[in-house]
Amino acid sequence: MKGLILSGGKGVRLRPLTNTRAKQLVPIANKPILFYCIEQLATAGITEVGIIIGETGDEIRTAVGDGSKWGVDISWIPQEAPLGLAHCVLVAKEFLGNDDFVMFLGDNMLELELSNMVHQFINDRNDHSLSCRVLLKKVENPSFFGVGVINDEGRVTQLIEKPLEPPSDLALVGVYFFTDAIHEAVLSITPSQRGELEITDAIQWLIDNERVVDHNILDGWWIDTGKKDPLLECNRLVLSTIIANIEPSVAIDEQTSISGAVQIGEKSVISNSIIEGPVVIGESVTISNSHIRPFTSIGDGVQVSDSILEDSVLLEGCVIDNAGLINASLVGSNSKVSGSADFADSNTLLLGDNSIVDLS
Ligand code: TTP
Repeated sequence: MKGLILSGGKGVRLRPLTNTRAKQLVPIANKPILFYCIEQLATAGITEVGIIIGETGDEIRTAVGDGSKWGVDISWIPQEAPLGLAHCVLVAKEFLGNDDFVMFLGDNMLELELSNMVHQFINDRNDHSLSCRVLLKKVENPSFFGVGVINDEGRVTQLIEKPLEPPSDLALVGVYFFTDAIHEAVLSITPSQRGELEITDAIQWLIDNERVVDHNILDGWWIDTGKKDPLLECNRLVLSTIIANIEPSVAIDEQTSISGAVQIGEKSVISNSIIEGPVVIGESVTISNSHIRPFTSIGDGVQVSDSILEDSVLLEGCVIDNAGLINASLVGSNSKVSGSADFADSNTLLLGDNSIVDLS
C-alpha cells in the first residue's frame, strides 16, 4: 500500500497568505498541516509516499526533506497545473504502479485511526472485489460538499458534487482508498465545467462500470483547512489535546502567571504576562506585558508586547506591539501589527507574510 498526498493546488481561498506560501505548510499548533498527513500515513505503516506538488513545490520539498524523520521515502511528483484531483492520480501513475494506495488531500485534517482503515481495506479488497473505498462523514450542510449515496449493502451508488438538493447528508472526506482500477477511470473521464478532472467523476465511472465502491464513516472530526475560520477551528481542536510542556531554557518572571495546557519552546522569554492555555508558543519568542488567551498558536521568534491575543495563529517572526485585542486572526510570518490601545474592540486579521498593519 502506498500513500499519495495532494499538495499542489492554488489556495485561492486563503489569500493573501497563500500568495507567498503553500497552504499545506500553514501551521496548526505550530506544525504544518502537511506534516500531520505524513505522520498519519507513517503511523499506518505506509512507507512509500508520493507528494503532488505545484508552483509551491520548492518550499514544500525544503520543509519536508527526504521523509526520514517519519521513516518514509518521499517521491516528489510535479503537476504542471492544478488540473484536478483525478489529474493528480494520472500524473502519479509511474509512482503508483499497480499498487493499492490511499490518497490524502494535503490541506485536510482528520481525527482518524488510519491504521485500522488501511488494514480493513487490505482485508476487504479481495473478499469483496473492492476497487475503491471512500470516507464519508455526516454533515449539516451537504450542499457545500461532494455527497455520497449508499445502498443497503453499504455500496456507494452515486457521488454528486455540491448538490442543490442533497440526496444524503454524507459528505466525501479528503481520504480515498484505491486499487489500480482507478487508473482506467481517470483516463476515461473528461474535464468538468470548471476545467478539472474530478475525482468524483472518476469514482462515478467505477460505479457506472460495475466496480465495487464502498464506504467507511468517519466518526472523528474533519476539517478542510483551506479557509481562515475552519483553519482556526482546527487549531482549537488540536490545541485542546496538547499536554503542557515548558522547555528548561525558557525564562519566566515572577509577575507572569501560566495556567492550563501551555507549551513553550526553547529560549523563549515571558515577562509580566498572563498565559491561559491551551496555548502553543514556539522557540525564541518574547512576550511582555501581554495576555495570551486560549487557543492561540505563536510561531518561532514572535515578539508580543502590550497586547491581548486570543483564538489566533501567528506565524514565525511576527511583531505584535500595543495592538489591543487580536482575536480569530491568522497572521503571516514576519508581519508587524501595532498601534491600537483599545482593548475593548477586538481586531480580526487575515494577513499575508511581511504585512505591516497600523491599527491606530
Ligand atoms: P482544493 O482545496 O480543492 O483546491 P485548491 O488547493 O486549488 O484551493 P482553492 O480552492 O482555495 O484555490 O485542493 C485540495 C488539495 O488538493 C489541496 O491540498 C491542493 C491539492 N490539489 C492538487 O495537488 N492538485 C490539484 O489539481 C488540485 C485541484 C488540488
